[in-house]
Amino acid sequence: MKKQISPSMMCADIAEIKSTLKTFEECGIEYLHIDIMDGAFVPNFTLGPDYCKALKKMTNIPLDIHLMVEKPERFLDIFPIGFGDYVAVHVESTPHLQRALAMIKAKGAKAMVAINPATPISALDYVLPDIDGVLVMTVNPGFAGQKLVPQTLEKIQQVRAYLDRKGYAHVEIEVDGNVSFENATKMSTAGANIFVAGTSSVFTGTDMAGNIAKLREAVL
Ligand code: DX5
Ligand code: ZN
Repeated sequence: MKKQISPSMMCADIAEIKSTLKTFEECGIEYLHIDIMDGAFVPNFTLGPDYCKALKKMTNIPLDIHLMVEKPERFLDIFPIGFGDYVAVHVESTPHLQRALAMIKAKGAKAMVAINPATPISALDYVLPDIDGVLVMTVNPGFAGQKLVPQTLEKIQQVRAYLDRKGYAHVEIEVDGNVSFENATKMSTAGANIFVAGTSSVFTGTDMAGNIAKLREAVL
């Protein structure tokens, strides 16, 4: 599967957003990872629907919206979700997971189910027909700058094998949290193909284009 980079926009310098997006376009960045938090599902607040709408006016790079909110099905209509976008909802965040995923697909977007480090893979059993991707959280969601939960590396491998075994080899795996250059290589080898790049790779130092090239090299 094509290895793709999705920079975590909560880590981006808002004062430099125009030049950041220009760099991303020049570097062929595939998605913009948008962390949405409600202070309930995770103890933090970050970006919102208006930020997503503003980005849509500034660039054609598809959005990769990560909903870390309770009962996300309540909010899908207030986000600019459309063809080419990914929307991830957490299995832990709603009793109506299948309905939420079907709503995302009905909007023409790609549906992704996110699982926290402690959540078993079997949670995916009855939504496999509804998803285009699995978001394997490699940190506990809520904050940038955290350290990888070590056992999630093996979990990536197990998710890849599980999907292939069940006949869902087309379903992608995104990883999110402490995707450093070093960790990215291990995550790629384990089977991930979409990399949420935050403070530990794309947004370090001042050479963003160089960081992107280095990350692409790391996941080859
Ligand atoms: C954590 C967020 C991540 C985070 C990644 O809840 O979902 O997207 O911003 O940032 P780093 O790379 O610093 O872990
Ligand atoms: Zn995220």
